[in-house]
Amino acid sequence: PLPSQPSRTLLDEALQHHLGDMPAEVAQALRDTLGAIAQACARIGDVAAQGVLADAMGVAGAINCQGEVQQRLDVIADGLMAASLAQCRHVAGWASEEHEQVHVSQAHGLQGSQLVVFDPLDGSSNIDANISIGTIFSVLPHRYRGMAPCESSFLQPGHQQLAAGYVLYGPATLMVLTCRRGVLVFALDRRGEGQGSAPRWVLTRDQVQISAHTCEFAINASNQRFWEKPIQRYVAECVAGDSGPRMKDFNMRWVASMVAEVHRIMTRGGVFLYPRDTREPRKPGRLRLMYEAAPMALLVEQAGGRAVNGTSELLDLVPDTLHQRVPVILGSRDEVDRIVGYHADPS
Ligand code: AHG
Ligand code: MN
Ligand code: MN
Ligand code: MN
Repeated sequence: PLPSQPSRTLLDEALQHHLGDMPAEVAQALRDTLGAIAQACARIGDVAAQGVLADAMGVAGAINCQGEVQQRLDVIADGLMAASLAQCRHVAGWASEEHEQVHVSQAHGLQGSQLVVFDPLDGSSNIDANISIGTIFSVLPHRYRGMAPCESSFLQPGHQQLAAGYVLYGPATLMVLTCRRGVLVFALDRRGEGQGSAPRWVLTRDQVQISAHTCEFAINASNQRFWEKPIQRYVAECVAGDSGPRMKDFNMRWVASMVAEVHRIMTRGGVFLYPRDTREPRKPGRLRLMYEAAPMALLVEQAGGRAVNGTSELLDLVPDTLHQRVPVILGSRDEVDRIVGYHADPS
């Protein structure tokens, strides 16, 4: 439940309490890693808020390994995450949407027990329009401590994640986090900055729950002609409203920032779809398994929702490659169950 008074519980203190049942060494490592991510995201939020004043708008020019033109903020956010993770001795290596190869952290004698995978800036097409954007992150165990991680060290199914979260840079900057013990929300409090104190992450919601029913869906309808039959059926039934088989009206939203879509679903329920389509080369869907689908799936499941590729739970998928794409259907459990049912019986 929402506290009637904003709490003053800060990130590290909240995690101390939250991770109290974990072995102390594991909990300490996770707190340090999440602290490093949170610090980077506070800086990314700062640069995003300054926008054109910080020379952070527009294209950077290069094409990343996804074949996308990098925006300046994609590059800045990626650099800020890397710089912060490099300071953290528990992080053995990381992988980013913006780099084809994984990065091995050299500074701490390969003692790190964790790997971090991230989408430094989600919703890049929204940067210049001043629409909400985000960062998505996933923390995985590094099983061979003392050895440099390679790509295969990262290729773990989503159910192995130690923690996952996103930061939403919207009207407020919020971090939504799970360490497999429910979902916590923190707001970035910058009010002390003028007096010399650093921005602080304040706990604002504990144990977020996604309602099982909804009348709201999110899909990029410009791809409709390429959708497979179960998705065609689901959306047609929503659009038919109270005179169709669902016998109720639906509302539709599309921000084109996955972080903002998932946050809306965390707040008031809903279902988000970026399905497989019949085109090449985007056929497996647009979103990336390791740093978009898997962390969001863990958050959604921890909040009582469900996340699938149509037929399987996203958290069960074992990645073949770092930048693999997958169909994503997630949110309110009853709707996701229905869509899975349509995939099993596409009549
Ligand atoms: P990114 O900006 O990190 O490359 O990811 C963008 C993703 C996701 O945020 C969003 O759901 C989707 O792409 C938007 O796709 P469309 O351009 O098809 O709307
Ligand atoms: Mn991108
Ligand atoms: Mn993204
Ligand atoms: Mn991105």
